[in-house]
Amino acid sequence: QKNGFRFFMEKEIYEQSDVVSDCMLGRIKDSEINFDEINPSILDGINEIKICACGTSYHAGITSSYLFERLSKIKCSVEVASEFRYKEPLLTTDTLFIVISQSGETADTLEALKMAKNAGLRTLVVCNVDNSSMTRVSDATILTRAGIEKGVASTKAFSTQTVVLWMLSLYFGKIRNSISKEKLQSEVSTLREVPKSLKIEDSIHEKAKRLSKRYLHGHGFFFIGRDVFYPLALEGALKLKEISYLHAEGYPAGEMKHGPIALADPELFTIALMPQNMLYDKIKSNVEELSARDSTICAISPLDFDLADDFIKINKSEHYMLEFFEMLVVLQLLSMEISIRLGNDVDMPRNLAKSVTVE
Ligand code: M6R
Repeated sequence: QKNGFRFFMEKEIYEQSDVVSDCMLGRIKDSEINFDEINPSILDGINEIKICACGTSYHAGITSSYLFERLSKIKCSVEVASEFRYKEPLLTTDTLFIVISQSGETADTLEALKMAKNAGLRTLVVCNVDNSSMTRVSDATILTRAGIEKGVASTKAFSTQTVVLWMLSLYFGKIRNSISKEKLQSEVSTLREVPKSLKIEDSIHEKAKRLSKRYLHGHGFFFIGRDVFYPLALEGALKLKEISYLHAEGYPAGEMKHGPIALADPELFTIALMPQNMLYDKIKSNVEELSARDSTICAISPLDFDLADDFIKINKSEHYMLEFFEMLVVLQLLSMEISIRLGNDVDMPRNLAKSVTVE
């Protein structure tokens, strides 16, 4: 059932455009966002959102924290579920507790959800599996409708989670009256463009294949980005680690000079996420610093960048989230192609399980 693709992961990367359309179906009408499965009263008395998740779902959580604060104007924090559980967190009932999980079975996330519920918090799960443990515990559920994800490396679960959470931040903004009608309309019309930005051009896949030949020799990788491109950098690094077994770290670009830049040399590969409409000049100067110290730079950007040793050009978009999804696909393809060249089992990488139901 790989439909002619070499691996399930590849099939799932290519499915993203369609599943993201499915996940918007019925939730976007004209220029309105609605979630029939949740009641607007979910926000009554809420002053804060706390998100808990693991792995890729955690990265979707960090991405959405920028959107909740920017679009809903609600304070938002994100925690790794395994840390949250044991830190004796101070929980208050004016907090909406959101967990994110593909499987709905991840032990740490499930326990964090139970803790929040026992403390009297209102809970919501963004999940891909209906009737999973988390959907049964949580007060409310939003399904991501990605379909079964077989590859251990999460791909379409992440894109649908991100889209659902983006829609949710707009929905909350609407309930709270914290977003103008015009802004809501323009965000919704951008959302409608997401499936297009997830369509994969042959030239992009070819480029990822070509780069994989050299990049498999890298002795270390930094993925750097700012704003929502920082959690995207974390996600790019996680993908490379889990299926290629190469050392990779995701970093906020502005943090490089606080230590990591000491590692820069020609064999350190820096994958720089350089969107045109989100702090371009800032990340450009971060990348220039790395280039001056001889790091090998691969820039992913809609804008030409002379200092890059390698360059993957994505389409220009007015909205940074469209660039986000275009870059996501590039990162997924790059790690998959490196993994294939290394002869690894792309769908079932060593030491990993699809669902982590133990601590
Ligand atoms: O099912 P969940 O979303 O709760 O799983 C969380 C992580 O175990 C998962 O995202 C993991 O990091 C993936 N293998 C990443 O590709």
